[in-house]
Amino acid sequence: MCGIVGYIGEKQAKPILINGLLRLEYRGYDSAGIATIEKTGIKCIKNKGRVAELNNNSNINSLEGTIGIGHTRWATHGKPSSTNSHPHLDNSGNFAVVHNGIIENYADLRDFLKSHNYNFLSETDTEVIPNLIHFYYESSKSNSKNRFLQAVSNACKMLKGSYAIEVLSSYYPDNMVVVRKDSPLVIGKGFNENYISSDIPAILSFTKDFYLLNDNELAFMSRNSIEFYDENIKPIQKQAKNITWDAGSAEKDGYPDFMLKEINEQPKAIRETIGSRIAVNSKSVLPDLEINKTYLKSINKIFIVACGTAMHAGLSAKTIFENLCEIPVEVEAASEFRYRNPIINKKTLCLFITQSGETADTIAALKLAKSKGSKTIAVSNVVGSSISREADFTLYTHAGPEIAVASTKAYTSQIVLLAIIAINFAENLEINKEKSEELKKDILLLPSKIEEVLKNTDKIKNFAQKIYKEKDVFFIGRGIDYTVALEGSLKLKEISYIHSEAYPSGELKHGPIALIENNVTVVSILTNRLLVEKSVSNIQEVVTRGAKTFIVTNQELNHDFDEVIRIPKTNTLISPILSVIPLQILAYYISKEKGLDVDKPRNLAKSVTVE
Ligand code: F6R
Repeated sequence: MCGIVGYIGEKQAKPILINGLLRLEYRGYDSAGIATIEKTGIKCIKNKGRVAELNNNSNINSLEGTIGIGHTRWATHGKPSSTNSHPHLDNSGNFAVVHNGIIENYADLRDFLKSHNYNFLSETDTEVIPNLIHFYYESSKSNSKNRFLQAVSNACKMLKGSYAIEVLSSYYPDNMVVVRKDSPLVIGKGFNENYISSDIPAILSFTKDFYLLNDNELAFMSRNSIEFYDENIKPIQKQAKNITWDAGSAEKDGYPDFMLKEINEQPKAIRETIGSRIAVNSKSVLPDLEINKTYLKSINKIFIVACGTAMHAGLSAKTIFENLCEIPVEVEAASEFRYRNPIINKKTLCLFITQSGETADTIAALKLAKSKGSKTIAVSNVVGSSISREADFTLYTHAGPEIAVASTKAYTSQIVLLAIIAINFAENLEINKEKSEELKKDILLLPSKIEEVLKNTDKIKNFAQKIYKEKDVFFIGRGIDYTVALEGSLKLKEISYIHSEAYPSGELKHGPIALIENNVTVVSILTNRLLVEKSVSNIQEVVTRGAKTFIVTNQELNHDFDEVIRIPKTNTLISPILSVIPLQILAYYISKEKGLDVDKPRNLAKSVTVE
């Protein structure tokens, strides 16, 4: 979490830093700050609150300088406050640092530094970093640029945890040092200017050429050069990657919020994710997945591991893999998987789903699976993200940048890509050819069917206006519809702060039905013809107890419910891609009715890079 940005060039740094921070705010938004190097040394302005408040800070207009660093915070150590905001300076005021990540051994490092007469102003873990850099800088005699680099490198060797760090020093007014380990950081190359950011979209309007740092690599930057080093300060070579995303795709495009834009972008996201990977009556094409038949035939278990919405995509994909590949699949939250010594061996295949490719628990789970001998496949939306550097194979959803904290188009794109991977496996296993062909046809029809679902927006908005004041909402479904209930419930609670629960419809009478009383809303998803009668009975049970009902279905129902949203029929295996959309829209409009910040819900951040 937290976003960092940096600029080194010939223009005034302040507006560029503020612009970058506004785009990175989805990563955290409880305080913000920037520092630049002026003639008199480092100047730093920071405050509690959002980047807009920083921009209105009465001192900010006096901030000059063409080299600067910025930070937008999601608090971990130390409550949101001006003192705890970044940048943090060392005691001498000659080094300024912004940091994304967590320093796990900061308490020991504080004690160590205190024993050398350093003082601390904040409650953060970060403040040890500039002071450690100062400590190592002072203990060196050299006068070259290496003294700065070496001091940063020595300080990093003392840190346990994760970090992406930018360092300014008043001793080096034309340079900046950046370093990363287990937290994202990209460098954008311009002409006589260079940029640093936690992600590509934040600086995409300035450059399309990016360098990606690997763990423990450092960069020593000036306006017109970037030198890369390993942790032992040995020079290394890097090639810039040209990013083809267009800068406009990270803008709102006339929509009031990113979430609504991203909901409406789902036909395009799915179309691009399918790309040329499947066509009717021809073999699937996954050039990034060289898995041979003998290996696949030896697999006796698949783990799908992810967090939050990505895990819900995994739960839907379980049914697809088990149906097409006939291999048992277990789906698990990465934060649980990694701490329970799962049984993994060479016959286990592990699949990791992560939109950002930066989720700390998912990356750690992948490392664990790899260390136990499993092959690992990552499904991610961000080219060059950290997980892609760890996994044996990475397959990308092409959903485009997802900025709203609540995931929408990434989720539906993940299910599509997972379905294509399952088809690819079934082809290699030489089983279920007919089922795969049917599924391919249905996948190719998804974009136009999503457009049909989106036509229900006004109807859903009306229902949202009726129920936005509620305290509790329940989501129910059977089979694959239950996985959608889980996702609908998560979407609602995260952006509207309404308490919600998801249950398998058949489980209601084993306890939860006690919570149903007059006027409580129950949302039900009903897409499986074989389960429709049983599910309708469950809905009747809550109606009898006074519940209001919101039904998403592609079945004919001979009953009256408060609201029924009809979606096109599709293959049950991929029905979540259609049935989730009304739930995304419902959550969106409830949040809007409540006057909340849909794109940046409280306490959350887009990339969860802490464990
Ligand atoms: C919810 C949401 C989160 C993420 C989760 C994993 O709308 O977005 O639950 O799905 O934090 O993030 P990624 O996919 O980046 O690993």
